Amino acid sequence: MTTADLNKNPEEVSGMFDEVAKGYDRTNALLSGGNSVLWRIATVKALNIQPGERVLDVAAGTGTSSKAIARAGAEVVALDFSPGMVAEGRKRHPDIEFIVGDAEALPFPSASFDAVTISFGLRNVNNPQVALGEMYRVLKPGGRIVICEFSHPPAALIKAGYDSYMKYLMPVITSVASTHKDSYRYLMESIQEWPEQSVLSQWLRGAGFTRVAYRNLTGGIVALHRARTPEDSKVRESVGKRRARPASPSTSSVSIPVQEP
Ligand SMILES: C[S@@+](CC[C@H](N)C(=O)[O-])C[C@H]1O[C@@H](n2cnc3c(N)ncnc32)[C@H](O)[C@@H]1O
Repeated sequence: MTTADLNKNPEEVSGMFDEVAKGYDRTNALLSGGNSVLWRIATVKALNIQPGERVLDVAAGTGTSSKAIARAGAEVVALDFSPGMVAEGRKRHPDIEFIVGDAEALPFPSASFDAVTISFGLRNVNNPQVALGEMYRVLKPGGRIVICEFSHPPAALIKAGYDSYMKYLMPVITSVASTHKDSYRYLMESIQEWPEQSVLSQWLRGAGFTRVAYRNLTGGIVALHRARTPEDSKVRESVGKRRARPASPSTSSVSIPVQEP
């Protein structure tokens, strides 16, 4: 796969993650310069987990994020559509429940989780807006969503440094650390094509979420978005029913229809 357009072929994406599953976490830690640990800590903190809460970790990969959520006292379900990533996750974290499933058709009843999170996964989903709708559906009234995803540094200097890193240093690191260079070219392209922070906020509102906010981590290389479903269960349900299924994901910053709950 050489082009990370946003109409990603789910079979190719799943197959690509099957191939990198074993070395995924090590390469990730190297590529992020150790920052991935800090991003995970920030994600768990933003989830504000209360002991015993049921939390869904979507696109959980090998379950590194799920493990951190379980440590915070939650009953966590890790879902991913790559059987290779799930197999690796089950091996590493036998105490965590893993499910092979698609973020765009979550295999859970409505209103069954207190919180849902997705780390570095939404960017890979074929239609992220459909996945947001599904995450909304499985959340209870007043449920929380936290999205940790690569984003776009607003400061020109950081952006220039980050662009140079991706262009010159990342290929060198991946050639040493990973045998799957195409996968990491995909990673770079998918990050560049991913929409800005404000657009993801609009997508969240469009899916029916309220109290949408985000904060930048590491100068905006990563953004942490958070939001809630409406507290009133009738409002939550009616917004879910009203929501139109989007035809295709858009990266435009002006053309996203915003539906206020
Ligand atoms: C970059 S990894 C992130 C894994 C993990 N969340 C982490 O932070 O390390 C992205 C994951 O998204 C999964 N993924 C992509 N599209 C998906 C979909 N439609 N449904 C479920 N998982 C998906 C891939 O299989 C892969 O494991």
